[in-house]
Amino acid sequence: MDGADLNGPSARLGRALLVFGGSGQVGRQLRLALAPLGSVIAPTRAEADLTDADSLRAIIERVRPLVIVNAAAVTNVDQAERDPALANAVNAIAPGIMAEAARRVGALMVHYSTDYVFDGARRVPYDEEAQPNPINSYGRSKLAGERGVASADAPHLIIRTSWVYSVTGAGFVASLLRDLPGKPIVRIVADQVGSPTWSRSLAMATAALVRVAVRADGKRAHLDRRGERGGIRRRPRFV
Ligand SMILES: NC(=O)c1ccc[n+]([C@@H]2O[C@H](COP(=O)([O-])OP(=O)(O)OC[C@H]3O[C@@H](n4cnc5c(N)ncnc54)[C@H](OP(=O)(O)O)[C@@H]3O)[C@@H](O)[C@H]2O)c1
Repeated sequence: MDGADLNGPSARLGRALLVFGGSGQVGRQLRLALAPLGSVIAPTRAEADLTDADSLRAIIERVRPLVIVNAAAVTNVDQAERDPALANAVNAIAPGIMAEAARRVGALMVHYSTDYVFDGARRVPYDEEAQPNPINSYGRSKLAGERGVASADAPHLIIRTSWVYSVTGAGFVASLLRDLPGKPIVRIVADQVGSPTWSRSLAMATAALVRVAVRADGKRAHLDRRGERGGIRRRPRFV
C-alpha cells in the first residue's frame, strides 16, 4: 500500500478513506475520527446503495481508497427478521463485494460486526475465538458478512461491538437521558446483558487501529466501552 508512515500520530494517508454508512451512529463519528488520517469520502445511500452491487463496485473503483470502512448495515433486529432478504443483501452480501473490490484496488477493508453472532448462552464474555451461533436473521446476516469479508483475501479488520450508543438520537442511552429527568417510572428491558459502547470511542479506536492495520490484517477484534481487546457480553433477545 502506498501512503505516509502510519505510525506517526499525525501521519496522513496518501489515498482517501471511503466510509459507508456515514450517516449512522458510528459513521458520523468515523467521519470526524478518521479526518486527521486523510480525505474522508462518505457516500450517501443515494450515491451508493448497498443493495446495488454494481454501484458499490463502481464507487470503490472510482475512488480507489486506501481504506474502506463499512459502518452501513440493517441494524434494526426486528426489521431484519421481517425482511431477511434485505438483511442478507446489506449485511451479508455487500460486505463481501466491498472486500473483493478492496483487494482489487489495494485497500484495507474495515468492517463492523456484532455480539448477535453469538447465541448468548455463555455466562462469561465472548472472546474473538468463541464459536458463533446466531439465533436470528440479524445475527445470521452479520455472520455471513464477516465470512464474506474474511474470504475475499483483502487485508481486513472485523470489529465486533455491542450496544452502540450516542447521546443524541433514538437509542437506548439517548432515550434514558431524555426520559429519566421527567418520568417517575421508566420502563427498560431487564432480560439483556451487554456492554454499552459509545459510538465516539468506537470510532476513535477504529482510527487508531487503521493506523496500524496494514500490519494487522486478517484479525477480528472485540471492542467494547473499554476500547481494548477483550470479551463482549451478550444475552439473547429473540424476535
Ligand atoms: N447499533 C448497535 O447497537 C450495534 C451493535 C453491534 C454492532 N453494530 C454494528 O455497527 C455498525 C454501525 O452501526 P450503527 O449503530 O452506526 O448503525 P445505524 O446508526 O443504524 O446506521 C446504519 C447506516 O447504514 C446505512 N444503510 C442502511 N441500509 C443501507 C443501504 N441499503 N445502502 C446504503 N446505506 C445503508 C444507513 O444509511 P441511511 O441513513 O440512509 O439509513 C446508516 O448510515 C453496523 O455494522 C452494525 O451492525 C451496531
